[in-house]
Amino acid sequence: MKLRFFHKRILVAAILATFSFNLFATDGDAGSPREKLLLDFNWKFHLGDDWPNFLRLDKAAQNSGPASERFNDASWRTLNLPHDWVIELPFDSSADTSHGFKPVGPGFPKNNVGWYRRTFELPATDAGKRIWLDFDGAFRDTTVFVNGWEMKHNESGYFPFRCDITDVARIGGTNTVAVKVDATRFEGWFYEGAGIYRHVWLEKTSPLAIAPDGIFVYAQFKNNVPSSKAPINVEVQLLNSLTNEVKAIVNCEIISPDGKSLAKFSESEEVKASAMKTVKLESKVSNPQLWSPEFPKLYKLVTTVESSGKVVDRQETEFGIRTFAFDADKGFLLNGQPYELKGTCNHQDMAGVGAALPDALQYFRISKLKEFGDNAYRTSHNPPTPELLDACDHLGMIVMDENRLLGSDDANMQRFEDFIRRDRNHASVGIWSICNEESTQTQPVAGRVGLTMQNKLLEMDSTRPVTAAESVGDVFIGLPGALEVRGWNYHVGREIESYHAKHPAQPEVGTEQASTVATRGIYENDKKRGYVSAYDVNFPSWASTAETWWSYFATRPWLSGGFVWTGFDYRGEPTPYAWPCINSHFGVLDTCGFPKDDFYYYQSWWTANTVLHLLPHWNWSGKEGQEIRVDALSNCKQVELYLNGQSLGKQAMKPNSKLSWQVKYAPGTLSAKGFDDSGNVIAESKVETTGEPASLQLTSNRATINADGEDASVFTVSVTDAQGRVVPTAGNKINFSIEGAGKILGVGNGDPSCHEPDTFVAQPAVKNLPFNDWRWNLATLPARGAMAPELAANFDDSAWQKTSSEGEGAQLEEGQTAIFRQHLKLSADDLNSPGIDIRFGRIDDSGSVYVNGQRVGESRNWEDSPDFDIKKNLHEGDNVIAVSVRNVSGTGGLVMGVNVQITGQSVMLAWSRSVFNGLAQVIVQSTKDAGEIKLTANADGLTPVTAAIKSVACTPRPFVP
Ligand code: GAL
Repeated sequence: MKLRFFHKRILVAAILATFSFNLFATDGDAGSPREKLLLDFNWKFHLGDDWPNFLRLDKAAQNSGPASERFNDASWRTLNLPHDWVIELPFDSSADTSHGFKPVGPGFPKNNVGWYRRTFELPATDAGKRIWLDFDGAFRDTTVFVNGWEMKHNESGYFPFRCDITDVARIGGTNTVAVKVDATRFEGWFYEGAGIYRHVWLEKTSPLAIAPDGIFVYAQFKNNVPSSKAPINVEVQLLNSLTNEVKAIVNCEIISPDGKSLAKFSESEEVKASAMKTVKLESKVSNPQLWSPEFPKLYKLVTTVESSGKVVDRQETEFGIRTFAFDADKGFLLNGQPYELKGTCNHQDMAGVGAALPDALQYFRISKLKEFGDNAYRTSHNPPTPELLDACDHLGMIVMDENRLLGSDDANMQRFEDFIRRDRNHASVGIWSICNEESTQTQPVAGRVGLTMQNKLLEMDSTRPVTAAESVGDVFIGLPGALEVRGWNYHVGREIESYHAKHPAQPEVGTEQASTVATRGIYENDKKRGYVSAYDVNFPSWASTAETWWSYFATRPWLSGGFVWTGFDYRGEPTPYAWPCINSHFGVLDTCGFPKDDFYYYQSWWTANTVLHLLPHWNWSGKEGQEIRVDALSNCKQVELYLNGQSLGKQAMKPNSKLSWQVKYAPGTLSAKGFDDSGNVIAESKVETTGEPASLQLTSNRATINADGEDASVFTVSVTDAQGRVVPTAGNKINFSIEGAGKILGVGNGDPSCHEPDTFVAQPAVKNLPFNDWRWNLATLPARGAMAPELAANFDDSAWQKTSSEGEGAQLEEGQTAIFRQHLKLSADDLNSPGIDIRFGRIDDSGSVYVNGQRVGESRNWEDSPDFDIKKNLHEGDNVIAVSVRNVSGTGGLVMGVNVQITGQSVMLAWSRSVFNGLAQVIVQSTKDAGEIKLTANADGLTPVTAAIKSVACTPRPFVP
């Protein structure tokens, strides 16, 4: 019976779908029913585990609280994704150090559970389509409900997941998605954030379609060396959810980086009913434009699927033509040539926004890293959001794409496969890393597990080498000997040398190096304030200076170069300190992306630019006559230093090093000239003693952004003296205001000990009135839609018995019905509030709620905690709430407490942030309106400044309205 129904439904759906294919045009292509819609805007959010019993285990789709479709979320905050609620919490010295002293995780149950809700319409024309909800990732332990049905439980906070919601979707009606996110447990030892911190998508396909992440396109050359004809392999996995076998034609077209059609090729296959089938195709591209960090040329594969003369799917996939390999002697090879990896490891959070980065900030961060010559990015220690990889594809950055955990169990392997399938088309992904510093790494079991994972990788993608980040020394047992490439976390020198001597045929790479600690603009360690000097001298016991590791790796080609821990500072791991220090000091850039001095060390030896940078700053009032260390970070052959025009000597620069002088401080100008081999001056640089703070400057990284509600610009505010020079010691508190078509998303300053908020979220004032003293009486309940006199506002209930709705003490026996009444006095002020709700612990088993004689809703599930919006039914003065209750089995009545919740106006908070050593950052996001965005900065005693950028009309990517 059930089966027959299913078949009939699919068949009707299929007919409808076939009929409607040409009715809608999507993805820029007439004929393909595929739609990928961003589901980021206008979610409702509530922080707090207020419905612990929402999940019903005995019956499906009968869950209560926010998981129920009937739940009223009107009083919840409205926000857009991506969202990280941890960034909004205050700092707390009793919270976890390595996660950045935010009150979340073990010990902070109040802040660990967040609920998100969103409704959306599915038009009648969606009949017959498959409907998917795709999550790029949520931190963590996420449960997704659609129309009350549990759709997915996904634990890890770093992997993508999706649900096929076709069966429960309401076509031609309203659908409700509710997501519970539980960050009670950590996965890492660094700031992880919490919430739906990556994008969510609603995807619609025909019943015969390309499977999710079902396209793999790659160029594979003989011996991994590019030639003038690039063999292109395409695998298209088709998903047939129809109940009949179909013939599918897969058409592919390759488009060149400059938009020309290069090749068209097709293949047809029969796809069995309710089955998947992979179609393999081949082609060639002549004289390929090879992808590299320097020339990030992207090709496009357009895949169209046809069946019965109709286009049933179309997808565009960007890809790169290039080869990645390791050679035991020459090191890493890009396109067959030795290519030194000048890389950084990075976590995913940023100042102002935590883990929830709009895509524009991924591009901002990758561009910042490239400024100092970084050509490789390790996604330590987890799969990234796909938009990070998009930025690396487009801007040119080789990615070591890292899995979270070692493990060949089913669950880990499934996540691992999903991750590989999602990322393997990206031009930028050059190396897979299966894990980081696993405790078992030197045990034979780790070798066996690692080999299983490596084999899975090679089976799914034979075009990239495999490694792991290994922190052990000269040990071959376990992971080091099992994997293709030996990864080195630290151990510069002896251990690497002896390992290499014993295993000369195994390629090696510096998966994680340096961990040099430095605070931007600070030149003395200061434990009390939590600052470390930015001369390249401080590092924990396992680590080294920038100069030590790089001069070692740079001179050993077989080591392939490596990855600095880290490119950006991140929250948590405040090594070598603890409170009040709340973020790491490892970055070449601080959490905002402002350069520390090491930036110029790497820039000197990692780029072809002529670099000459002097440190420290030259504002040392009170230290006149005392010796100060002055360093020159440069790639000039010689550097001569001057103080106020007097030469302090010329020094020759050794490759991969830096120069130092001891200089007796006198205010004025410290300057330097850089010379080439022939003694010509090729660079000049100076640092001046500045005056007191006098004004503010504002600059933005982009003059124009898109009015799509997603795009963002990063403003730098600096405190300058009267001559416009940044005051390197300034710490003024700056206030920000914004006008026009934008909003402030977050602020930061890179100070690792700053406890000022990164966001100023407007919070509505919520007043909770406990509402538990009722009068009640057994009563015959009226028929549905009819009114009983006891429910009317003017009924005299003074003779009725009193009861409390608190606790579990029920009033009714099995089979009884009753009416409960209470009076609610409200002032004019109360009535002016945006929301007034009544929330019941339980109406057991079921009942209807009346306000001043008007029915406002009902509860049909005894386990629900129903919530009703009653504002429109209330008036100033005395109001009467009446509840009719029917108790079917066991005891029942009004139990577990009742509350009236008055939600006040949201209080808009003024944005502010202190500059740290002269600089702070403001991240501004567009709205969907085009126009000017004006940001103003002002501070006590300083000349204020306003800067404007334009937000221009654009075609936003398709989104769910
Ligand atoms: C490494 C680890 C990183 C980070 C770093 C700090 O051992 O892989 O996640 O903790 O140490 O130096």
